[in-house]
Amino acid sequence: MDIGVFIPINNNGWLISENAPQYMPSFELNKTVVQKAEAYGMDFALSMIKLHGFGGKTEFWDHGLESFTLMAGLAAVTSRIKLFASTAVLTIPPAIVARMAVTIDSISGGRFGVNIVSGWHKIEYSQMGLWPGDEHFAKRYQYSTEYVQILRDLWEKGESDLKGAYFQMDKCKLSPRPSRPIEIVSAGQSDTGMAFGARYCNYNFCLGEGVNEPTKAASVPARMLEHAKKAGRDVGAYMLYMVICADTDEAAMARWDSYVKGADRAALEHLLGHAAHDVNTEATSMAAAVQRNPSPINFNMGTIVGSPASCARMLDEVAAMPGVKGIMLCFDDFIQGMDDFGQKIQPLMKCRQDRLPLAA
Ligand SMILES: Cc1cc2nc3c(=O)[nH]c(=O)nc-3n(C[C@H](O)[C@H](O)[C@H](O)COP(=O)(O)O)c2cc1C
Repeated sequence: MDIGVFIPINNNGWLISENAPQYMPSFELNKTVVQKAEAYGMDFALSMIKLHGFGGKTEFWDHGLESFTLMAGLAAVTSRIKLFASTAVLTIPPAIVARMAVTIDSISGGRFGVNIVSGWHKIEYSQMGLWPGDEHFAKRYQYSTEYVQILRDLWEKGESDLKGAYFQMDKCKLSPRPSRPIEIVSAGQSDTGMAFGARYCNYNFCLGEGVNEPTKAASVPARMLEHAKKAGRDVGAYMLYMVICADTDEAAMARWDSYVKGADRAALEHLLGHAAHDVNTEATSMAAAVQRNPSPINFNMGTIVGSPASCARMLDEVAAMPGVKGIMLCFDDFIQGMDDFGQKIQPLMKCRQDRLPLAA
């Protein structure tokens, strides 16, 4: 069971609350988080790409670094952990991403992969004149399919001549090629998105569900398993959970309750408004998941709240759901959260006993 961390590349991580820790993203913060992840034996770190925030009192996600340049820096200060950057496919041509990936492959010694972001938050792109029109909501995975084909052609053959609906390549060259196959991941929640992940990616990130209901999301990795079976490929789900840990269950739950009470209403209104713009919303899509709860202070992602023993037990339950190949964690306080995970939670997790670092 792989474990990774969703690093805080934008301000305040994934908690849209006035009562949550308020912090800016920086290289130093992310370096500390990823070096801790490496020291605690975690397998991977992913940074998202977010280009427009939600405003509100907390200026939620109004402040964000860029994913590839951050991961290039982190590649130079780590030695073992796998690193994934996210490309918003509407913003960077695939031939440039292929070359950036080869560069980070070289910096990292073959530890780099790419997360394909097809685009669901229109304002990120319309603000820079890059939104192709609302038909993109329905066609985004067709666009991403050509994009991934070009990446693969360039990495595997050093040339792409793809003549597609969106991209016209003319014997486009790439050299040097990567030192080993570069992994591609995606994070579509809709069936169309999962089918894309199953056909073209190595893993698909999936949102967990519920607060302290670790198996509530069981249908999600099960759907991914079905899509992988249909595609005839071994593509697992990497489930996203937020961990809020304290010495006792009560103290942890008091923290979560306080975050819920401090919801940043204006920022949430922005999120809910923009989620509703996604006209291609399937019942299973990210936009639909966000809208399921009127106060999605952490995007309605799966949330594990409790003492170290409770967190370990619930994460083991997540790991045991059929189709789950990995878990990606985020925290309310990333520095304390990483230490709590590495020192107190992970040593109790049955699914991690074969991966514990020697010093733990
Ligand atoms: C773990 C995870 C990481 C994601 N990373 C990003 C990201 O970096 N940028 C972004 O705009 N969307 C991101 N998303 C959203 C997905 O990429 C996808 O666009 C969204 O789920 C909408 O597609 P869907 O309709 O198939 O669900 C992420 C989602 C998850 C669960």
